[in-house]
Amino acid sequence: MMGDVEPSAPDCWRLVTVFGGSGFLGRRIVRHLLARGFAVRTASRHPERGKTLFPADQPGLQAVAADVQDEAAVTTALAGAYGAVNAVSLYAEHGRETFTAVHIEGAARIARRAREAGVERLVHVSGIGADADSSSPYIKARGRGELAVREAFADATLVRPAVMFGADDAFLTTVVKLVRTLPLYPMFGRGRSRLQPVFVDDVADAIARVLDGSAGAASICYEFGGPRVYTYKELLQTIADATGVRIRTVPVPFALWQALALIAEHLPGTPLTRHQVALLRHDTIATGAWPGLRELSITPMALEAVVPNVASRMKNALQERGPEGMAGGPAACFQSGQTVVLVPTGDAVLILGVRRSRLEGWLYIIELAGSHVEVRESYLRMPGP
Ligand SMILES: NC(=O)c1ccc[n+]([C@@H]2O[C@H](COP(=O)([O-])OP(=O)(O)OC[C@H]3O[C@@H](n4cnc5c(N)ncnc54)[C@H](OP(=O)(O)O)[C@@H]3O)[C@@H](O)[C@H]2O)c1
Repeated sequence: MMGDVEPSAPDCWRLVTVFGGSGFLGRRIVRHLLARGFAVRTASRHPERGKTLFPADQPGLQAVAADVQDEAAVTTALAGAYGAVNAVSLYAEHGRETFTAVHIEGAARIARRAREAGVERLVHVSGIGADADSSSPYIKARGRGELAVREAFADATLVRPAVMFGADDAFLTTVVKLVRTLPLYPMFGRGRSRLQPVFVDDVADAIARVLDGSAGAASICYEFGGPRVYTYKELLQTIADATGVRIRTVPVPFALWQALALIAEHLPGTPLTRHQVALLRHDTIATGAWPGLRELSITPMALEAVVPNVASRMKNALQERGPEGMAGGPAACFQSGQTVVLVPTGDAVLILGVRRSRLEGWLYIIELAGSHVEVRESYLRMPGP
């Protein structure tokens, strides 16, 4: 059932409030909790979006509107809950949606209100690499958010996933599209940063097990990484092999990626953010200091097993849409209806983006001058036919 705050499930069902329950990770946490017999209340700013994610008559499920910046709404969302999960994300700052407001203050608010409401188990989703002393505002906020949560709710469980993949994700889907369409694949730096991609359903399953008090669920912190560590370059090669394409990579300096991300943060769908670039400068792999999936009796899914699914979903989508969706050339379709073209020209990179549905476009020229990177020109609005 969607809409009311009153628990709709039998009293014996333990209720878990999932903040961000309509998100990429959150919706899977909801499914795993329901499968374990929990009642679930999803809390997000647009609860109506959940209607397409879950069956309309799903017993034990309700959705409420709650912005983590709204004290009263957070309190209401937690009423009567046995457990709570914070799976809210913010990857790029816009207006009052700042890393501090969401990842520190919002996280602390959930923790404080959960403790006051008598919630027994709180899971706070953060990320591998969270570091309160980082020079990256995003990574720093994630680290400070963890500390704020711990201060407000001493027994909270911190969950740090590595980059997550799934058949419908933004990460793998984008990389598969790019390796299939770009003649030269631009790498982050020399592609030496190490990653440990983890299957999103494994992380959701693990979080449900923590809330259920399953074997191995007593740790105050978990790091969830996949079964294999790749350098970024190895990862691209693995994805290319799994999709049966040949790939040629080209190193692109991180300074240039930062400039690209600065622009991409203002594009529809936010295809790239500066924090993603900052994260990719460093290894984002489990440190081994905390337990992971195996300690919760989960065998991590290999990325190679999921890539063919992504490729076939893409192929089906293309067959439905026709060939215009992914014509050849140096084009990268970042999301449905949006095409972004990167054209390296000597010391500059030209970015042309077209959003077909609105017939609007943009063109940026990014210039590399010594160690400086600057946006030399930009034209917004490209007249449509
Ligand atoms: N995706 C990854 O690869 C990855 C890797 C490591 C860690 N993580 C972490 O995992 C968590 C979940 O990430 P995700 O990728 O699943 O995020 P996502 O797909 O972007 O989903 C975010 C969810 O949070 C809700 N939300 C956003 N702002 C909110 C606010 N102010 N108040 C209430 N709800 C809000 C969204 O719904 P509304 O927009 O309707 O509010 C949505 O349900 C985040 O902490 C993220 O940093 C993700």
